[in-house]
Amino acid sequence: MTQVESDNFAEGVKPHVFPREEAAPETKPTQAPAAISTGDGPLAIISDIHANLEALTEVLAEIDRQGIKKIVCLGDVVGYGPNPLECIDLVMTRCEFSLMGNHDFAIFFEPYNFNQAAENAAYWTRTQFENDTDRERRNKRWRYLGTMPTRMNNHRFVCFHGSPRRPINEYVFPDDIYTAPQKMAAIFDRFERLCFVGHTHVPGVFVPDPDFYAPEEVNNRYTISSERAMINVGSVGQPRDRNPKASFAILHDDSVEFVRVAYDVQATVDKVRAIDALDNFLGARLLDGR
Ligand SMILES: [Fe+2]
Repeated sequence: MTQVESDNFAEGVKPHVFPREEAAPETKPTQAPAAISTGDGPLAIISDIHANLEALTEVLAEIDRQGIKKIVCLGDVVGYGPNPLECIDLVMTRCEFSLMGNHDFAIFFEPYNFNQAAENAAYWTRTQFENDTDRERRNKRWRYLGTMPTRMNNHRFVCFHGSPRRPINEYVFPDDIYTAPQKMAAIFDRFERLCFVGHTHVPGVFVPDPDFYAPEEVNNRYTISSERAMINVGSVGQPRDRNPKASFAILHDDSVEFVRVAYDVQATVDKVRAIDALDNFLGARLLDGR
């Protein structure tokens, strides 16, 4: 029995060392790159679900409505929101893989650089994982969370939760094109063509000038060219671009489409309000998307 399969989780003890055969996600992705081959149609790219079941359900319904067969997730499946178990179960079922986001890392390992509300939410989320009395289901979730890769690539693109430089934790904000051009240059040095990220919850396209285009500046569709581009797909469950609708992207043959989906925001706000460990602000901010 490996550590990840151990009953220790039920006792509140987390393994901090991966068994060799399961390898830390930093060094060995658990899925083969072929898993994100896009040769058979458009690919939906979602990120930053943050345990928001109402938003994830509507996004998956939209993906199904469009007949898209493959979905990948760039991380932060959990954290902040009220339905972590339902969301990770859906991601395990519906997505080719999920990368590890800083909030997924926080649940499995430890919160790093979190404010108090985020840290409280992380510990509450961990308790939800531990309190499931079905041992097999509990271990399956822990195993999935603990073996999330931090990067994936195929012949068309690479993807990370944060950035190619610091996959789990680096934020790349639109303002960085003005305030941190050296940071942008270092990031663009680390991939060849097309890169997808999440983490900031602000969708848009970075180009090497450096420059940034919000989705509305490209009519919600960025045409792929020989120019390098780093595309943030936005957040399913906690948008922060002052648009409360859930955000995701679709990779087509020659373009990337930005999609927004309305969902029952108030239902999620009410759930957050009903859970003492979750700061009401984590729900209230959903109403205006910031
Ligand atoms: Fe996030």
